[in-house]
Amino acid sequence: MIIPGSTSQEVAAELAAELGEPLSAVEYDWFADGETLVRVPETDDLAIVVASTVSSDAHVELLQLQDAAGQRADEVITVLPYMGYGRQDEAFEPGQPVSARAMARAISTGTDRVLTVNPHEEAVTDFFDVPCASVDAAGRLADPLPALSDPLFLSPDAGAIGLAETVRDAYGGGEADYFEKVRHSDTEVEIKPSDASTTDRDVVLIDDIIATGSTMSTAIAQLSEPNRIFATCVHPMLAANARTKLANAGVNAVYGTDTIERAVSSVSVAPVIAEKL
Ligand code: R5P
Repeated sequence: MIIPGSTSQEVAAELAAELGEPLSAVEYDWFADGETLVRVPETDDLAIVVASTVSSDAHVELLQLQDAAGQRADEVITVLPYMGYGRQDEAFEPGQPVSARAMARAISTGTDRVLTVNPHEEAVTDFFDVPCASVDAAGRLADPLPALSDPLFLSPDAGAIGLAETVRDAYGGGEADYFEKVRHSDTEVEIKPSDASTTDRDVVLIDDIIATGSTMSTAIAQLSEPNRIFATCVHPMLAANARTKLANAGVNAVYGTDTIERAVSSVSVAPVIAEKL
């Protein structure tokens, strides 16, 4: 039985169809004081809770879903299409928490194992007290791309070059390269151009997440006379005015997956999750 979180109903439905599993008609409620409550009307021996922790409320809701499902199921598997707080994978200053570890420990208490999609750093999977595996959905980002002219697949930093190569390989050809990025603050990044020529080429930018859109829009500003520009990512958080930043930067289209449900989430990660479960 698939138990969907309120923020992951699309991917949960896709996963249920993919696996041929029933989908529990979970009810979600919010009290006037801001607390959340869920009701899981039915489950069976195996409960697969599917919930992206895109907000603090979503984190609490996930713990509630695990607890409700675990009362009747023999095994609870937790699928985190997007793991919130995953980018806080270290204490950046003395006195700060390792937030990803704190979240992982809390999530571990209500589940037998965890599966997540493209965590920011693979090491985050070690923070869980139960087995945690990850799947790579980047290859699926090639699916919505149109036929490209002399394509260049670019990641905004060296750490994401593997994603650019994965999308390039899934597309079936082209050059892959990366920018050098220095982050000054939450919203300010400095990006130096890559060595690859961008003139008259279709450029596909690939990152694990677009959050404020600062990284992508700053990277786009470095492109010299490109043909078309496509911004792709696994996790389209698109917080605040990120989508507008991308539009103003000259992006022709944005493609993301349904780990976070947004208007641009045209690619489902359900098949890659189903394969690994
Ligand atoms: C950082 O290393 C990540 O891969 C992303 O580049 C970053 O988190 C995106 O954030 P934003 O959209 O806020 O620049």
